[in-house]
Amino acid sequence: MRIGLAGVGRIGAFHAATLRDLLDAAVDSLVVADLDPAAAARVAGDLGIDHEPDVDRLLASGLDGLVVATATTAHADLVRASVARGLPTFCEKPVATTLAETVEVARLVRTSGVPVQVGFQRRFDAGYARAAEAVARGELGVVHLVRAATHDRTPPPAAYVPASGGIFRDCNVHDFDALRFVTGREVASACAVGGTKGEAFFAEAGDVATAAAVLTLDDGTLALVSATRYNGGGHDVRLEVHGSEGAVSAGLDDSLAFRSAEPGATFPSGPTHDSFMQRFAGAYRDELRAFIDVVAGRRASPCTVDDALEAFRIAEACERSRTEGRPVRLEEVETR
Ligand SMILES: NC(=O)c1ccc[n+]([C@@H]2O[C@H](COP(=O)([O-])OP(=O)(O)OC[C@H]3O[C@@H](n4cnc5c(N)ncnc54)[C@H](O)[C@@H]3O)[C@@H](O)[C@H]2O)c1
Repeated sequence: MRIGLAGVGRIGAFHAATLRDLLDAAVDSLVVADLDPAAAARVAGDLGIDHEPDVDRLLASGLDGLVVATATTAHADLVRASVARGLPTFCEKPVATTLAETVEVARLVRTSGVPVQVGFQRRFDAGYARAAEAVARGELGVVHLVRAATHDRTPPPAAYVPASGGIFRDCNVHDFDALRFVTGREVASACAVGGTKGEAFFAEAGDVATAAAVLTLDDGTLALVSATRYNGGGHDVRLEVHGSEGAVSAGLDDSLAFRSAEPGATFPSGPTHDSFMQRFAGAYRDELRAFIDVVAGRRASPCTVDDALEAFRIAEACERSRTEGRPVRLEEVETR
């Protein structure tokens, strides 16, 4: 098996190291390329893998599958090029920068029959997977409420924010996918607000530093979703499901990113997570292991472009709700 990887930045270099370890060096190969050929050469040298001088040559180098980990603006074109060659493709989220382009890519992938997996790694986190199983087996009784959170320890660089798509499309999109994955339900409406107490560059980009949304699911379940770029306690990503017979939480472990204010309480006692790489190291490995199985034809894509489109539509509804100051029904977010 020969896997290509385009884009060796922060997440791409991390995925390349993971793939190098997962592949069987005796029979498989991994080859990388980047807009910056020196970066590709450097990562290839560090990992002892191959590199190509550009993405066109990478695509033409006899691949069995492609991982797209470039900057977001290149995702849609690379997925189109990869699918046109019939290559099973892994694409980091988001699939495209706009709703219209996501709809178009989803349609193209659907009609092509080529498997494309999108990088919502929480589906591969043991806690999120266990929560989904508890709901599916009816262990929690009737689910009434879900709470989901993505709280970053520190804000991204100022230059990142204007091109990020905003906090709902950039951060909470993972919560929206997890919400669908864990509950098996669709979101019917969104009511969202944002706060700009952080550095001025969030407001200057028309974005917010902290956000909250109340979502109503199609069976009447309520979901409270939050995000902040300023969580000094650590990188805090959690999901709680509350039902008539019980409640479970993903992310409620000794590394929880806050300290109990109760006298004598010792939980949580472990070191907190500083970043998403640390928090989801196992999930990133397992999603790429799944992609190797997709390339080998052993399984279907575990997170399709249609799934990514639904998560994007929820983010779009939240952004409209926040900026227009009103509840937004999901059917307002057209997919034609
Ligand atoms: N699933 C997750 O948890 C997760 C986490 C981080 C980033 N991401 C996504 O991964 C993508 C990359 O993020 P990052 O933080 O690694 O960014 P980054 O800026 O660190 O790296 C992007 C890399 O892509 C390269 N690149 C840009 N355009 C290219 C093109 N046309 N062809 C080839 N290479 C190109 C750049 O030179 C750079 O090396 C983003 O879409 C981001 O949303 C997902």
